[in-house]
Amino acid sequence: MAGVEGRVVAITGAGNGLGREYSLTLARSGAKVVVNDLGGARDGSGSGSAAADAVVDEIRAAGGEAVANYDSVASEEGGKAVVQTALDAFGRVDGVVSNAGILRDKAFHKMSAAEWDAVQQVHLYGGFYVVHAAWPHFREQKHGRVVVATSTSGIYGNFGQANYGAAKGGLLGLINTLAIEGAKYNIRANAIAPMAATRMTEDIAPAEVLAKLAPGHVAPVVGYLMTDECEDTGTVIVAGGGQVHRVRQFQTKGVAFAEIPTIEQVADRWAEVVDLDGAVPGTNPVG
Ligand code: NAI
Repeated sequence: MAGVEGRVVAITGAGNGLGREYSLTLARSGAKVVVNDLGGARDGSGSGSAAADAVVDEIRAAGGEAVANYDSVASEEGGKAVVQTALDAFGRVDGVVSNAGILRDKAFHKMSAAEWDAVQQVHLYGGFYVVHAAWPHFREQKHGRVVVATSTSGIYGNFGQANYGAAKGGLLGLINTLAIEGAKYNIRANAIAPMAATRMTEDIAPAEVLAKLAPGHVAPVVGYLMTDECEDTGTVIVAGGGQVHRVRQFQTKGVAFAEIPTIEQVADRWAEVVDLDGAVPGTNPVG
C-alpha cells in the first residue's frame, strides 16, 4: 500500500503522549512530520521547545524526517505557522492531526468563563486554525487528510468536563462538514477518540487499567486514517488498549404527526419517539 510514504503530516501537541506516538509511527512509515508542541503543562500554562525537540531528535535518530514547531495552536497565527513550517521544510502539507489539548476540569457550577474559554481555544479553535490553514493546499492538490482528537467525554459526556466535552463535541461537528466540503477534493476528515495512558490521564484511572493503555495502540489507527488508501470520511473511531470501534449517530423510527400536536399528544407518543428498536444511521434531512 502507498500508506503515508512521502506524505507531509503536521501533528499538533506532538511533544508528549499520543501526539508523540503518532509522530513516531507516521515517521517510521515514511511520512515527513511537523512536530508541533507549545511545551506547556497539562493545564496549558507555560511553554518551551524541549518537548517538540526531543521527538524530532528521536525521529531523526531512527532515520526519519521531522521538523519542530513551537507555536500555540490557540491563535490564527499559530495555526498558520504550523502549516508554514511544513511548507518551508518539506514544500507541501498532506495531512493534519489536530491533537493538542489541555484540561481545566471543574464541575459545571464551579466552572469560570476563563476555564471554559481556555479549553475551547486549544481544542476547538486550535483545530479550526490549523485545518483552516492547510485547507487551501489540500483543495489545490486534491489530497488531504484530517484527523481531529475528540473524546468519549465529547461523545457521551463526563463529570467535570463540560468545557472539554463541548470542545470535543464541536470537533465532531467540524469534521462532519469538512467531510462533505472536502469530498470532491479527495480530502478525508475523521475523528479519533483515544484511550491512552498519558500525563492527561495519569490520575484519572487506576494504574492496572492504565498499564493496558499504551499510546502505541492508538497510533496505527491514526496512521491508517492518514493513508492514501483510507476512504472513510466523517467517521468517528474510539480506540485504546487494542480495541478499535466506530461510533455513529442513529435516528429512531420516531413518530410522524399529520397535524401540529398538543404537548399531551407528544407525551402520549413519547415512548415511540425515543424507542431505539429499528433505529437507522441518521442523515441531515436538509443537507
Ligand atoms: P498530553 O498532555 O500528553 O499531550 C498534549 C500535548 O498538547 C502536550 O504536549 C501539550 O504541550 C500540547 N499542547 C497543549 N496546548 C497546546 C497549544 N496551545 N499548542 C500546541 N500544543 C499544545 O495529552 P494526550 O493524552 O496525549 O492527549 C492528546 C489528545 O488526545 C488531546 O486532544 C486529548 O484531549 C485527547 N484525548 C486523550 C485521551 C487519553 O486517554 N489520553 C482521551 C480522550 C482524548
